[in-house]
Amino acid sequence: MYGTDTVKIMTGHPYEVTIGSGILSHIGELLPQRSPCIAALVSDDIVDHLYGNEVTAALQDYGYTVYHFVFPHGEENKNMEQLSSLLSFLAESHLSRSDLIVALGGGVTGDLAGLAAAIYLRGIEYVQIPTTFLAAIDSSVGGKTAVDLPEGKNLVGAFWQPMAVICDTATFATLPENVFIDGTAEAIKYGVLADPQMFELLSGADFREHLGQIIRRSVAIKGDFVHDDERDTGSRQLLNLGHTIGHAIEQCSSYTVAHGHAVSIGMVIIAKAAAATGICDSAVPQMIETALANNHLPTRCDYSLARLVDVIQTDKKRRGDIISLVVPERIGHCRLHKINVAEMASFIEPGLK
Ligand code: NAD
Ligand code: GLY
Repeated sequence: MYGTDTVKIMTGHPYEVTIGSGILSHIGELLPQRSPCIAALVSDDIVDHLYGNEVTAALQDYGYTVYHFVFPHGEENKNMEQLSSLLSFLAESHLSRSDLIVALGGGVTGDLAGLAAAIYLRGIEYVQIPTTFLAAIDSSVGGKTAVDLPEGKNLVGAFWQPMAVICDTATFATLPENVFIDGTAEAIKYGVLADPQMFELLSGADFREHLGQIIRRSVAIKGDFVHDDERDTGSRQLLNLGHTIGHAIEQCSSYTVAHGHAVSIGMVIIAKAAAATGICDSAVPQMIETALANNHLPTRCDYSLARLVDVIQTDKKRRGDIISLVVPERIGHCRLHKINVAEMASFIEPGLK
């Protein structure tokens, strides 16, 4: 027998996140009950090579007919071309509204497959099987799906909740260390947002023996924000701590700086900027920087203020001339701080020092 833990996500269509180790081969029985159908299994090449056969066999055992869509790994492939290829693949495979997309992989796969699920036949069901730490605690939950445009990140997307999320923590054993660390930035973000105890645990030497507990808690925190504001018009925006500057860093680097690494730098910059204007105590940026650095995450970047501000102008969180930045007030509590784009440079400048 295998053990699992579950967290319920209370969106318009509630669903469960199932967390366990070694559960990939039980995917068929862990999926919510449904008649056997076609499952379009979507993975990047690396994840397909590692886990594609195991998941295919587990689905076939439960009567699913499985078709594979494999695309080249990397953020640069989270784009309109891959989305278009995937949609054609679904049509050529004759998927109907009663069929299913299974996203097996990291956040790139989940975002791409989720968007295809949202728009193919005006929406079909999909399941997230996250295989990175970041996808497990963040991107697989909450129904944000998207691809990037040359003009900016995640500019084409939809809100479309999965029917289930199944997270096998054993898949993290094959993660390159820098990809695992990338997820740690998002876990630290949850600590800064809502859980000083978890923040302390993540700031320390080795939290990996508590990984199941950290995933469960992170998903529960995210679930609460998503429940309160599924369409991201208010409090859910707090989940963007570090992301406005982080997205700009990703884009300036042509996506060679990974998402979590960019968010790490973004959190430090915004915390220092918040301290400079008296929103939080100067101990707060110091604590955040130490927690991130202890986990081998970057806390500084070489991009100029002018370049970052230029990219931030295209941020999808801008409403007219106003951008809502997420600022920490203390560890465990953040708030939205609305500023005019014209004031952005002077606000974040102290954060770059
Ligand atoms: P990713 O999907 O690119 O995965 C990182 C690398 O790890 C890839 O090369 C992949 O092939 C490899 N990989 C994945 N699982 C593996 C495994 N078990 N063993 C070995 N290699 C494995 O990146 P990511 O960090 O998972 O996700 C980043 C993406 O998620 C970004 O596009 C970001 O915008 C998005 N994101 C979305 C949300 C959301 O709410 N939708 C939230 C946060 C991040
Ligand atoms: N990753 C931010 C959100 O899901 O809202």
